[in-house]
Amino acid sequence: MGTSVSVDGQITAFPLLRGQKALVTGANSGIGKATAIGLGRMGADVVVNYVADRDAAEKVVQEIESLGVRAYAHEADVSSEDQVVGMVSRMVEELGTIDILVANAGLQRDAPLTDMTVDQWHKVLDVNLTGQFLCAREAAKEFLRRGVVPEVSSSAGKIICMSSVHQIIPWAGHVNYAASKGGVLMLMQTLAQELAPHRIRVNAVAPGAIRTPINRSAWDTPEAEASLLSLIPYRRVGEPEDIARAVAVLASDLLDYVVGSTLYVDGGMTLFPGFATGG
Ligand code: BGC
Repeated sequence: MGTSVSVDGQITAFPLLRGQKALVTGANSGIGKATAIGLGRMGADVVVNYVADRDAAEKVVQEIESLGVRAYAHEADVSSEDQVVGMVSRMVEELGTIDILVANAGLQRDAPLTDMTVDQWHKVLDVNLTGQFLCAREAAKEFLRRGVVPEVSSSAGKIICMSSVHQIIPWAGHVNYAASKGGVLMLMQTLAQELAPHRIRVNAVAPGAIRTPINRSAWDTPEAEASLLSLIPYRRVGEPEDIARAVAVLASDLLDYVVGSTLYVDGGMTLFPGFATGG
């Protein structure tokens, strides 16, 4: 067993997750797509969850299958209890179990406080926070039922919550999103405390500014990108594969003793870059 990262930044040739079954929510685009493919590259079979755009999800499935592992697409709204229950029970039927949950599905509905509607508030909390709760609950039931299978993994299951630097950085004009990610931090830590005695590892990955459709306006003109880069000490915008690699390693037994942690993958965005010259 060995690891290597090729020059194009892709994970290559090491089935660290061989035999494991992963569910990635919101996997038809952006960070979720790269993560689903990254886990497939590490040897996992992958369920590609999506809520809209079946064609995009099927393309991700084809790309994962071309790596020699199993995959299928499953439409479900993570904020719907029935749909999440159905998604996890189908996965147990079709793939036998679930070893890794990447609770990634998330969205933004931005507005200044005084313009924000209660629908915008609820939509973001429902998907970003309730969605992670529901997926974690259903995955944990299966982890507890099955227990540890030492040939597959040292732990009974791994939950990786996709958070954000905004779990700790306040963000004016995005109070629904920042509140949802602050909630994800405490959801993750509480579940980690509750489930660790059962050998279930719960952790989070907190991306900074990653080049995906969710924040296109922040990087798709030179002026916007220059302003964004002033918030990133490492002076590059992140790529979805930066997050995929972090998730894959966190899900593997290489990090078996990491429980209840947040791995910030943000080029230093959480280092208060304004203080590099001020304060
Ligand atoms: C948000 C992006 C934003 C980034 C850094 C992410 O969680 O979804 O829109 O660019 O945080 O602020």
